[in-house]
Amino acid sequence: MATPQPSNVRPIDDWGKLLDRKIAVVSGGGDGIGGAISRLFAEHGAIVEIAEIDPERAASAQRDIRASGGVAVAEAVDVTDHDAVERFAARVLADHGRVDVLVNNVGDYRPLVRFPQSSPESWKAMYDINLQHVFSMTHAFIGSMMEHRSGSIVNVHSVEGMRGYPGDPVYGAMKAAVAHFTTCLAASHGRNGIRVNGIGPDLTQTPQVDYISGNEDFEHLWPSWAPVGRLGWPEDQARVALFLASDMSGFVTGHNVPVDGGTKAGGGWFFSPTAGRFVNRPTGL
Ligand SMILES: NC(=O)c1ccc[n+]([C@@H]2O[C@H](COP(=O)([O-])OP(=O)(O)OC[C@H]3O[C@@H](n4cnc5c(N)ncnc54)[C@H](O)[C@@H]3O)[C@@H](O)[C@H]2O)c1
Repeated sequence: MATPQPSNVRPIDDWGKLLDRKIAVVSGGGDGIGGAISRLFAEHGAIVEIAEIDPERAASAQRDIRASGGVAVAEAVDVTDHDAVERFAARVLADHGRVDVLVNNVGDYRPLVRFPQSSPESWKAMYDINLQHVFSMTHAFIGSMMEHRSGSIVNVHSVEGMRGYPGDPVYGAMKAAVAHFTTCLAASHGRNGIRVNGIGPDLTQTPQVDYISGNEDFEHLWPSWAPVGRLGWPEDQARVALFLASDMSGFVTGHNVPVDGGTKAGGGWFFSPTAGRFVNRPTGL
């Protein structure tokens, strides 16, 4: 007798739109990696709720998604403000009655402060922009996910939370905390029907990290900088976020996937005597 299969095992050709009518919240969904995630989720049928600090980026993301036939609402929200997050979540839950997917994408390595020059103020700033809002957003939406016994959370942290990052150990520690929060939350909430996974980007061209400007002469070096031999694009991150957000990954939780063109596997940081600092894309050391 054939082994009985759970009802959600479907042939791959039947999947169609991966987030059809799902309510998906994306922080920092106006541009960069978050922008690509918002667009791809909308293409896959999600109703996308964007929390974006920059009103122009918010308006432009909402306009672009609607112009392509998608559904999106973008609200100007600073996710480092806990009260603002609670107000945003209350509005989203009042409008839709639930949330199916939460992507905690906001994060920043700037201003880069070397550890000897750092201070309680700079540590707090790294905490606010990289970790605290992950707690605030997750806290604001997890009750509804528990009530509906369903939810998928995707935390965008960094490959620097998964390897030693000499540039700013405080930033690396905040990203590692997001990755480990991911693992712990998955363990504690799987029985509530909630999956939690993370992605660790590297080398991805965005407004925050511009790998192109000033490096035009070094394009031939990408094969030595990244095992896959090229620069990454926000869409590279978005496709992995889509997989983790959707039922395609229904048996995956608690994992952190480096989306880095292989740098965690095969690359690293090298001290350059000529530059006088650590570099991840040596031009000759
Ligand atoms: N790009 C890379 O190569 C790379 C590498 C490692 C990690 N990351 C991580 O990926 C995530 C996205 O990075 P990115 O490069 O797309 O960044 P980005 O700065 O280009 O885009 C971030 C988006 O979030 C918005 N935002 C910033 N602060 C916000 C706040 N307080 N509240 C709401 N919205 C806010 C910005 O306006 C922008 O639209 C971050 O967590 C970042 O640390 C990126």
